[in-house]
Amino acid sequence: MSRLQHFGWFLARGFGPHGWGHPYLDWNWQWTRPELYQQSARELERAGFEFVLIEDAPSLGSPDTIDLRVRHAFGGPKLDPLLLAPYLFQATTRLGVIPTVNPAAYLPYTAARQFATLQHLSGDRLGLNVVTDTGSARHFGDAPQLSHDAAYDRAEEWLDGIRALWNSWGEGALVRDTATGVYADGTKLRPVRHRGEYFAFDGPLNAVPFERGEPVIASPGGSGRGLGFAGANSDVQLALAPLTEQSVRAYRAKIHAAAIERGRSPSDITIMFAIQPVIVSSPEEADRVVAASAHPDDAVLRVIAQRQSSDLETDLTVLDLDAPLPEGLFAEHVSQGSIRRLIGDRDAATAPLRAHLTALARAGRISDRSGFVGTAEEFADMIEELGEWGNDGVLLWGDLHPVTIHRTLDDLVPVLRRRGILRDELSDGGLRASLRSF
Ligand SMILES: Cc1cc2nc3c(=O)[nH]c(=O)nc-3n(C[C@H](O)[C@H](O)[C@H](O)COP(=O)(O)O)c2cc1C
Repeated sequence: MSRLQHFGWFLARGFGPHGWGHPYLDWNWQWTRPELYQQSARELERAGFEFVLIEDAPSLGSPDTIDLRVRHAFGGPKLDPLLLAPYLFQATTRLGVIPTVNPAAYLPYTAARQFATLQHLSGDRLGLNVVTDTGSARHFGDAPQLSHDAAYDRAEEWLDGIRALWNSWGEGALVRDTATGVYADGTKLRPVRHRGEYFAFDGPLNAVPFERGEPVIASPGGSGRGLGFAGANSDVQLALAPLTEQSVRAYRAKIHAAAIERGRSPSDITIMFAIQPVIVSSPEEADRVVAASAHPDDAVLRVIAQRQSSDLETDLTVLDLDAPLPEGLFAEHVSQGSIRRLIGDRDAATAPLRAHLTALARAGRISDRSGFVGTAEEFADMIEELGEWGNDGVLLWGDLHPVTIHRTLDDLVPVLRRRGILRDELSDGGLRASLRSF
């Protein structure tokens, strides 16, 4: 059995002001220009990473909490990653690029045509991270915001519609016979007439069919409905769950069951757990980093509070650090996942805000599986262990600044290669071929 694992990079805060708040801002990269990302994409390709996936949210969130999002550039501004993709394709030859897209933002016909165009232009290296955030609905019309599950229903209808359009050029439709001068046989184009709950459109699509398959579909949803969506539709699932054997196996089993239920094979889906490692040069350094994080001072807690305020669309910076969170603090629309991440397993009614923020500040060692600080060898041990539990790969997460890429990968890549966990080079058959190559 192959020991190889799949590796991807997750640009976790989207196409935004890179380096804000970090000393590496002084490298003079401009985050609105492509060079920063192109440089990083080339490094990832050289490292043997199969793709870079770019987070996105089209909205700055609720009108009354926009300041929380933009003040420290944590939740915005963000430019559109779909439009960054061609620049990354141009800078590389084999790396996949997976921008995040929201079905609310694109009519299926427009989406099918734009994605087809990028798939052709990139030599089959496009992926689409399909998310169902409902809070941005107001930017795309005056229809009421959908419920969590209805947003997934819409995403499935959207994707089915896009696939019907992609397949509207039937077998033999593209002729390209220079002797007869016939380019295509229009009688072999399927009309496609879709009248659904959320979308209505006709085909066929004004784009040539794919030679090596459709763009890859990725999904990050972790709810029951989200895992079902992945099983039914995705080539890649971005997984966030505790990295214990029981949790990893249970997570994978749920997606595989959903795949089988929809007539797919579990091997159609590459499940990749998202990890943000801090790679250090020795176990002693790891101990120092962990110890230093154990007792964060108020200045550190304030920065964490600012970031949490952005994600939670709730101003935590004005609250008393030594009091429990006021009852009814979070509005209805605030992400339950984000609230869970803040509170953890503490009692919200009694634990002071300081306890929640301190827990977020604390780092743990890879070696005892209490966190992600460790040496390259310790990280490789963990990846091997995940592989023994059946795992397919990991998604390392951070910004897309070359400093971050090098800090994370310089020591790691040689160790992973030596152990046969990381591929030496990417195949040139496109992104799906990379994902299916072992
Ligand atoms: C690795 C990873 C990447 C994610 N990327 C995005 C993203 O780019 N945009 C977004 O709106 N949500 C993103 N999410 C969050 C969830 O997908 C989001 O909460 C989802 O829309 C809600 O689905 P759920 O309730 O099924 O988890 C990401 C989550 C994970 C774990």
